[in-house]
Amino acid sequence: MSDLVLRNICYRYPKTRQMVLHEINATFREGTVTSIRGQSGAGKSTLLYLIAGIDHPVSGQLLWDNTPVTDLSAYRRNVVSIISQSYLLFPTRTVLENVCYPLHLKKHPHNEAAEEAKQLLQSVGIDKKLYDRLPEKLSGGEQQRVAIARCLATNSKIIAADEPTGNLDEENTQIIVKLLQRLAHKNKKTVIVVTHDPAVAQMADKQLQLAAGNLIDE
Ligand SMILES: Nc1ncnc2c1ncn2[C@@H]1O[C@H](COP(=O)(O)OP(=O)(O)O)[C@@H](O)[C@H]1O
Ligand SMILES: [Mg+2]
Repeated sequence: MSDLVLRNICYRYPKTRQMVLHEINATFREGTVTSIRGQSGAGKSTLLYLIAGIDHPVSGQLLWDNTPVTDLSAYRRNVVSIISQSYLLFPTRTVLENVCYPLHLKKHPHNEAAEEAKQLLQSVGIDKKLYDRLPEKLSGGEQQRVAIARCLATNSKIIAADEPTGNLDEENTQIIVKLLQRLAHKNKKTVIVVTHDPAVAQMADKQLQLAAGNLIDE
């Protein structure tokens, strides 16, 4: 089983004095959803960016599969992918092209990539008639599902989600929550969800809380 382990992670932004994260220790297990809840400014996004390999901690270590993560770009390429509140889809590419993008990067032949992308879109409940639309012509809930399909196309083991339901109504929040649970429990992904919404936090197998840069097991 591949676990992600955070060991004594501390973080401070460059040119600032105050530590944002203090000695964070946590284990994220394969096939589970972990939620990290906390108030605005608690350091949730900062922690998630470290988990996603976007920046190095000031001190401490990330271990994946019992091995320290030293090459962040390889880790980002092969292990982790991130979804966010603002979906971050390519605005000038269609829904299908957005999902094909990571497959093209991995040099999948074009026909196969399109087939695979369609299967992924189907698995997140996106109707065929939306494939050729630009993201702006979709609802927020649909855009988030396309973002999840694109994330799945990278085939990453870890899915790091920053407020993935932050812009969604209750019904769409439930759809995304169920999808994230399915990815963990069926597809054996390691899902980490940052949220300020207690209802979203509660759906997780393990619930953590971040308060003033300290992580507490709930
Ligand atoms: N780029 C940055 N430079 C300096 N400080 C930052 C930067 N981004 C965030 N911070 C500070 O780090 C703290 C944690 O922010 P953040 O991780 O965004 O919190 P959350 O996601 O929980 O709302 C806040 O005090 C915020 O002001
Ligand atoms: Mg945030």
